[in-house]
Amino acid sequence: MASHTTPTGTEATDEELRGLVAQLTLEEKLSLVVGEDFWSLPEIPRIGLRKLRVSDGPVGVRGVTWDERDTSLLFPSPTALAAAWDPEVTRRAGFIMGAQTRDKDIHVLLAPTVNLHRSPLGGRHFECYSEDPLLTSRIATAFIEGVQSAGVGATIKHFVGNETEDDRMSYDSRIDERSLREVYLAPFEEAVRTGRVWLVMSAYNQVNGETMTENSRLVNGVLKDEWGFDGVVVSDWMAVRSTEAAAAGGTDVAMPGPTEVWGEPLLAAVREGRVAEAVIDDRVERVLRLAARVGVLGDRTPATTTTPDDAVATLRAIAARAMVLLGNDGTLPLDTSALSRVALIGPNALRLSAQGGGSAHVNPSHVVSIPEGLRAALGAGVELTLTEGAFTHRALADLSLDMATDPDDGEAGLRAEFLDADGNVLGSEHRLGSSLMFWPDNIPAGATVIRLRVNITPTITGTNILDVRGAGRFEVTIDGATRTIDMTAPEGTDAIEAIMRPEATRIEIEATAGTPVAVSVDFTQGSRFFMAALGLGWANPRLSEDAELDAAVEAARAADVAVVVVGTTDDIESEGFDRKDLALPGRSDELVRRVAAANPRTVVVVNAGSPVLMPWRDEVAAVVWAWLPGQEGGASLGDVLTGVVEPGGRLPTTYPAAAADVPVYSTERVDGGHDYAVRSSNIGYRAWALGEAAPAYPFGHGLGYTTWEYEGVAVKGDASGLTVEIAVANTGDRAGREVAQVYLETADGTLMGRQEPIRLVGFAAIDAPSGAKVTATVEIDARTLARWDERGAAWVTTPGTYRLRVGRSLGDLRLDADVTL
Ligand code: BGC
Repeated sequence: MASHTTPTGTEATDEELRGLVAQLTLEEKLSLVVGEDFWSLPEIPRIGLRKLRVSDGPVGVRGVTWDERDTSLLFPSPTALAAAWDPEVTRRAGFIMGAQTRDKDIHVLLAPTVNLHRSPLGGRHFECYSEDPLLTSRIATAFIEGVQSAGVGATIKHFVGNETEDDRMSYDSRIDERSLREVYLAPFEEAVRTGRVWLVMSAYNQVNGETMTENSRLVNGVLKDEWGFDGVVVSDWMAVRSTEAAAAGGTDVAMPGPTEVWGEPLLAAVREGRVAEAVIDDRVERVLRLAARVGVLGDRTPATTTTPDDAVATLRAIAARAMVLLGNDGTLPLDTSALSRVALIGPNALRLSAQGGGSAHVNPSHVVSIPEGLRAALGAGVELTLTEGAFTHRALADLSLDMATDPDDGEAGLRAEFLDADGNVLGSEHRLGSSLMFWPDNIPAGATVIRLRVNITPTITGTNILDVRGAGRFEVTIDGATRTIDMTAPEGTDAIEAIMRPEATRIEIEATAGTPVAVSVDFTQGSRFFMAALGLGWANPRLSEDAELDAAVEAARAADVAVVVVGTTDDIESEGFDRKDLALPGRSDELVRRVAAANPRTVVVVNAGSPVLMPWRDEVAAVVWAWLPGQEGGASLGDVLTGVVEPGGRLPTTYPAAAADVPVYSTERVDGGHDYAVRSSNIGYRAWALGEAAPAYPFGHGLGYTTWEYEGVAVKGDASGLTVEIAVANTGDRAGREVAQVYLETADGTLMGRQEPIRLVGFAAIDAPSGAKVTATVEIDARTLARWDERGAAWVTTPGTYRLRVGRSLGDLRLDADVTL
């Protein structure tokens, strides 16, 4: 297994923990197994226990509010971290995130997300690492080690079988035992055994007919008994829906609180003997063990780690390193000295999707936009023109602070007020953003209406557009005239979907540049959702769609190089719902094709966290996959396009040419669930290998700016472990980074009776200057070579001769070596 660090910190002995449990009343014990509120567990000063706070999530630590005034570092999407194929990079990211968690006085981070890329339509695909269990395990474990080395508990989630989002509270993932063990449980197992993770989050869904918060076989049996997990199993938020079954099923803590199913009903169940008090004692012991680890028990103190000074620079470097050069005819890297004008085009060039939607969202203090990043990278000698080209965003951009004034204090921003049913103002605050999200704890008790007031000063005379967003009822007053807009979500709408992808209504306003428009919005959501969300957006007068596209083509024609940035948005890639198809939104494809036809030096940048179809990929000079790159995204892209940094990423997932080719595509439930063996029990490249179709880009693919020769491979070892030494040479004229990949192939395409033609067994990232020869060493442990034998319920290796295939990607294998196991 990969190397591990044992968390330093403040482990409590079982004796100490049991002694403390024995001092607690039953009521006190039960208070520790339910959230005190949305994000914390209560204190019990009598035994020296202080409050323990948790926060999302994989792209940064948001904190206990969702508020633009409480900012956090925004990291590249987890898919990007995986694309670096480099546990050291992820460990550093984890450490920085853990350190900021400490800065916010939070003890537990609700990350990483390790569900697998089963269907590319999965809404949280961007938030998970890869389609491959080994790559996912290595990246996740390094991330966990990084977080926990800052003295913060990591929470690996969502245990297990939570590969899609639609109907996620109820669907049943039907998974055979071997696939469960070898694929879906594997990252959790490595995180427990090697990463020593402190928390596991149980998922909303069922596995094989039992909901995961009640799934005793997997939680008590596999996770706790078999793997020896001694930390806390925390439920996903509101996933606990029963009293006895969830208590017996192994869930330790139900979040958030208060909940109607634990608390009083659980107290009654223990009193009446339906739940043994010993079960609760075990839960409490685990909570106290965690409290000791994070320093909120007794005379321990939390770690004093603080966010390192190089955090922002590191985020910039990671995002650049993770970008994947999918294709390049030599146009990249751009030689700035030979350019006089670059046309920057595209909806995502103007509005970078720095992150996806859902609970992973954080509020960064700034995002380096693409125009900003490119201007800096190209230098003053190169003119940069900017054209949107296509309107693909369903919601308009948030109000910019340059045009929004709080009518009360005259400062840049908006006024938010909370009113009760009689119109009394219960609270009032100055806000800096026009997308607002509130947890119940952040709204004054008794408030039923949220009012936003702002004076908007347009910069261009003509038809400007305001949009109003939210799942509820709005009274919108513009310069004294009021209208009602009812966007109340229909009965049965998923709460997260309603909040993350709210309805939007556009209002055209004939406005004069410099003359403020007074806007006031009264929003009533009703109480059906646990969060409230509303937003206002704005667009300057626009050309028609056709004229905008023509303008982009003209800009491209007049430039030396066109850079077209297309991609998704955070209401396409989000928690709470799956995507409906893989196409880029709106007229993006047409935009790329027409620009490429006008300028042969067209570089396409795809700003997305999960696969999209790129039907134009062979018609353009270069394609850079930029992911959802986080707050430094524009700067990282500037570095990559100009060659300051090599785009060192490799695809962690197979990218299809057509939706029909994708082995596991649909995310619709069949008979209440998902049959994980729908076409085969394989996913990702293992499933692609069984079909006829070739993907657009294979697993592991990524070019770079230099060339590599694979000169030789030597293998030592046997079934107990292999050491593979790969000699590679950088044969290009610049330094570069290579990810040498090792796959195991069987002679007849089956492994122990199951079709599985090829499997990733190891990889190593190496940096080398031009002309250098280096040896990449890949260690492969016994488990990676073993299979789960269902009959014997054990890991076994099938003796025989196997072929190791070594290369740059699954589509570019360079060397073979036979091994006998
Ligand atoms: C998500 C979790 C998240 C939790 C708290 C849930 O909806 O599935 O990943 O940690 O909310 O925000």
